[in-house]
Amino acid sequence: MSGRAGRRPRPAGASSARAPDFDAASAAARPAIRVRSPRELRRRRRSRAHSCWDHLIAAPLWPLHGANLGTLLRTCDAVGACLAVPRHRWVPEALARGNTLRRPSCVHWVGDPLGWLARQREAGTRVVGVELADEAVRLADLPAARGRTVAVLGHEQYGIPDEALDLLDLAVEIPMVGTGASLNVAVAGSLVLYKLAGLL
Ligand SMILES: C[S@@+](CC[C@H](N)C(=O)[O-])C[C@H]1O[C@@H](n2cnc3c(N)ncnc32)[C@H](O)[C@@H]1O
Repeated sequence: MSGRAGRRPRPAGASSARAPDFDAASAAARPAIRVRSPRELRRRRRSRAHSCWDHLIAAPLWPLHGANLGTLLRTCDAVGACLAVPRHRWVPEALARGNTLRRPSCVHWVGDPLGWLARQREAGTRVVGVELADEAVRLADLPAARGRTVAVLGHEQYGIPDEALDLLDLAVEIPMVGTGASLNVAVAGSLVLYKLAGLL
C-alpha cells in the first residue's frame, strides 16, 4: 500500500527547499494504515510448525460439514491449539481441503468421543462445551485457560449430544442479536479458542 503512495512530482521551477505544503499533501495521499505484505507476515510467523502444546484442544467430535474442520484447524494453528477429531474415513480429506497451512498441524484422532471426553475429565482437564445453553456463561465472561482445556463443539444440526453434556465442566455461549439460530461450528469454535488462548 505504502509503495503505491509515492512522492508527487515536483512542479517545474520549484525550489529545492522542501515546501511544507508539498510534504503535507504527499503525507495526506498516503493511507494512515499500512497493510503488511505477505512477505513481512511470513517473516513474523514461525518457520516451523509448533509441536503439540497439549494445552488447548478444540474438539468438534460430531462433525457434519467437512469445510468447518479445515477452518478450525487454521484457527488452532493461529492460537497454538490442537484439534481433536473422530476417526471417520472422510475426515483427513476434509482437513486437507479447507486448510491452507503449509506446515502440518497437531491433530489428535479420537476413536470413541464420549470415552475420550470422560478420560480427559478424569485426567483433570477442564472440559468447556461451546453451546447455546441456559446455564452457559457469555463468551465475554470466559477467562483464558489456565490449565489444559478441551473446547467441545456440537453437531451442526443437533448440537452437543445429551450424553456428552454431563461430561462438561461448563458451557459457553456466544451472544447473537440477529435472526439466525446459531453460528456455524468453525466460527463459534474460533471465537472461543481465541478467548481461551487469551488473545482477545
Ligand atoms: C450450528 S450449531 C447447531 C446447534 C443448535 N442446537 C441448533 O439447533 O441450531 C452447531 C454447534 O455450533 C456451536 N455454536 C453455534 N452457535 C453458537 C453460539 N452462539 N454459542 C455457542 N456455541 C455455538 C455449538 O457447538 C453448536 O453445537
